[in-house]
Amino acid sequence: MLGRVPTYRIRTYGCQLNESDSEKMAGLFERMGLSEDPGDSPDVLLMNTCAIRENAEDRLFGNLGVWKALKAEHPNMLIIVCGCMTKIPEDLNRIKKSFSHVDVVFGPQDIHRLPELLYERVSREVKIMQVSDRDYLPDDDDLPAVRCRKFRALVPIMYGCNNFCTYCVVPYTRGRERSREFDRIIDQLRELSEKGFEEVMLLGQNVNSYGKDAPDKPDFPDLIETVSKMNLFSRIRFMTSHPKDLSDRLIDIIAQNPSIERHLHLPFQSGSNDVLKRMNRGYTRERYLEIALRYRALVPDGTLSTDIIVGFPGETEKDFQDTLDLMEQVQFDAAFTFIYSARPGTAAASFSDSVPEEVVSDRFSRLLALQNAHSLASNQSVIGNSEEVLIEGLSHTNESVFTGRTSSNRLINFTIPDGTVLGADPLPLGGGTGAAIEGKRAIIRLLKAKTFSIEGQLEYFIDGR
Ligand code: 5AD
Ligand code: SF4
Repeated sequence: MLGRVPTYRIRTYGCQLNESDSEKMAGLFERMGLSEDPGDSPDVLLMNTCAIRENAEDRLFGNLGVWKALKAEHPNMLIIVCGCMTKIPEDLNRIKKSFSHVDVVFGPQDIHRLPELLYERVSREVKIMQVSDRDYLPDDDDLPAVRCRKFRALVPIMYGCNNFCTYCVVPYTRGRERSREFDRIIDQLRELSEKGFEEVMLLGQNVNSYGKDAPDKPDFPDLIETVSKMNLFSRIRFMTSHPKDLSDRLIDIIAQNPSIERHLHLPFQSGSNDVLKRMNRGYTRERYLEIALRYRALVPDGTLSTDIIVGFPGETEKDFQDTLDLMEQVQFDAAFTFIYSARPGTAAASFSDSVPEEVVSDRFSRLLALQNAHSLASNQSVIGNSEEVLIEGLSHTNESVFTGRTSSNRLINFTIPDGTVLGADPLPLGGGTGAAIEGKRAIIRLLKAKTFSIEGQLEYFIDGR
């Protein structure tokens, strides 16, 4: 290996919290002297897994098979598996038994130990399994993140979850709720702003319970209001909110502070009070509607998105109709829709009254059709407007189209007219343009609505905050 810098590659599955963990692990790799290799034969290959639904598992086991073949070709390659799946005993056993080519396994509470575990593997030539249950509160200041986006910094403000929704593995995989120190978050945000990030995403499984572990300290509305008043970012995003804990005060603060995104992601999961009860969600459809309609009234230019589960055990046609009815009343601008998947160890996994597959798939199609109509209508309602977009780069599908998002989280694909200048300079030609304009803000004229995006054209770039 002499004379060559060893390389790593990370593959991340699942949520933005996993992405944030991967950014920290990339930082640790770089500190150890490795450099990133997006190809198929890095020296260290790390899989950061997700356990939220069964299909996430299928993907890990499929990929481990592919990597087994790669390792046969490159026997010195080290394979690491971490993330939420390692906390599911059935999965861990399967990794141990059937995938002997995996060198290191550690859990979501162990990511700070990556250098030590890797060193142990290399120096002692033994397989390493380190999946702990200790609810470690990593402080981001101690972990040097390599941020994969130039325009958005991911900042966890809390870890874990105490809610035990009966379908969900997260409380088992990520442990109990713990909030980061307010002052350290603020210091970190100041640093990120100085580095030039326009957008920050405050992350937690349930950001609305930030600070609940210390009632005399700031809560989430305090935190987001403070960050907004400091004028550090042109856009402050946050995910995920829980209807049980979202306060009226938070909506007031959003309404009064335009740098907070004009978008609220508020999962409702089911529109039926019976199902909500069996899911242990802690709110009723009436309370959910009250919050959603209050948000619509106070933040009229804001969008609302949600998560919905279809086919939870015991879901009747009447329960499902209640879900469709809630969707009609709220008219969500976007939704993530999921088919219920039984997760080992959760309470709902032992519920006996599962819904037949064909009934679930019929309900799922009806739900999608309704949501797609609402998503399209929502995008159509802003056509003709000129809106501020934070540019994310080149579109994945077309070399002459660029992509970005509005504060309301609408995905905008836009073209740039010939002769456009960026500051005092003409734009670089061809593929270089994407990198040159990533993280910049621009006014885009919205021309054509699609279900999941809007087509537009750049009017001009915005300078300064
Ligand atoms: N089956 C289906 N969907 C699930 N989600 C979480 N657990 C499950 C499960 N067992 C969905 C919820 C949650 C989103 C992140 O994933 O809708 O809000
Ligand atoms: Fe899972 Fe419920 Fe916690 Fe969200 S609030 S992470 S759905 S247990």
